[in-house]
Amino acid sequence: MGLFDKCYDYKVSEIVKAKGIYPYFRPIQESEGPVVLMEGRKVVMAGSNNYLGLTTHPKVKEAAIKALEKYGTSCSGSRFLTGTIDLHIELEEKIAKFMGKESALLFSTGFQAGQGVIFPLVGKGEYIFSDKDNHSSIVSGNMLSAAAGAHVVRFKHNNMQDLEKKLAHAPEKANKLIVTDGVFSAMGSIVKLDEMKVIAKKYNATLLVDDAHGFGVMADNGKGTVHYFNAVEDVDLIVCTFSKTLASLGGFVVGPEKVIEFLRHKSPALIFSASPTPAAVAAASAALDILIEQPELAVRVRRNAERVRKGLRESGFHVIDGQAAIVPIIIGDDEKCFSIWKMLYDEGVFVNAFISPATPPGMQMLRTSYMATHEDQHLDFIIEKFVKIGKQLDLLHHHGKHPKGTGHKVSKTPPDKIKV
Ligand SMILES: Cc1ncc(COP(=O)(O)O)c(C=O)c1O
Repeated sequence: MGLFDKCYDYKVSEIVKAKGIYPYFRPIQESEGPVVLMEGRKVVMAGSNNYLGLTTHPKVKEAAIKALEKYGTSCSGSRFLTGTIDLHIELEEKIAKFMGKESALLFSTGFQAGQGVIFPLVGKGEYIFSDKDNHSSIVSGNMLSAAAGAHVVRFKHNNMQDLEKKLAHAPEKANKLIVTDGVFSAMGSIVKLDEMKVIAKKYNATLLVDDAHGFGVMADNGKGTVHYFNAVEDVDLIVCTFSKTLASLGGFVVGPEKVIEFLRHKSPALIFSASPTPAAVAAASAALDILIEQPELAVRVRRNAERVRKGLRESGFHVIDGQAAIVPIIIGDDEKCFSIWKMLYDEGVFVNAFISPATPPGMQMLRTSYMATHEDQHLDFIIEKFVKIGKQLDLLHHHGKHPKGTGHKVSKTPPDKIKV
């Protein structure tokens, strides 16, 4: 057996491509946010994490351009050595203040932030309690800690009884970290932080929340899931990304200064990787300024998601309930998921197809997500196209509540006529 045999044997993507329903790596040629150009035609975007729609905001673009002109294209090194510029420090101070924590540390991606915080903190003989549905960056940090001798215990998704049962089995004196997503990226569900913070205290465990999908969305000030639960004092560390609300590329952790200082000197993901580029940092900083000035954007993105959630649910789709910007529609089968994805794409709507192992079997879904800059005409167009396809494929009978599936009034505007 050669190392590459598994690659030559891997046929799944080719089979799906041959059927013309392959949904991944589709290039976007231009983007205005809610509407993008793909294969030369306009498509309404219902799958982006650009939650506040700031990637095309003039102030964000201008900040990136100015930074590029002043500092060049790259810092060419890690934060530790030659890769720190004053913009990094300024943004760290601004983020820490905004989040109500002592100190912040920037990483080059959100993935590196999650992985890069867990591994240095949890080692031999110590325990990690991790939600089964946590993001891959957390899983990666857990695996590195496990290799260093930590015990990694997974608890059932958002199941506080299971978490408590597992904590109770661990040695009382052992150091323990509980790690969870704030808003879970596939299902859009929100961590039961009210209960979790009490359990963490009872078992003297440190609490880490990855709020990639909650930051800028949850809480009326946009400060995220931890603030939504009024739990800033109870959560020790918050990890986040720039790639969603902050319209850029990078990540951060906030927490006690002594912990951040330790991570600054001990996190391989920070020390052995080049720092976020000047343009990326300036863009994130300008996006944060906009969130601080216009917290109503967080309210708007939740309202937009709710409009679609309600419209699709009332039309008879199997929609997972939630409060954040993610609206998953359960399809339940890989090929059906891809076929519906293609039908929607042909109708001018782009969504994300999630199949197993990203979802449990039977929960294959079209995961949609919304932006503060979607207008009602975009949202209604998305609903209209879902309903059209749902009727064709007889999908509109979830819970038998709306068997005819016409619960929502929608516009008839094609995507190239939608004003942007
Ligand atoms: C919960 C969560 N954490 C971390 C990340 C990684 O963020 P980044 O894209 O900045 O690497 C993501 C991105 O999808 C995420 O959903």
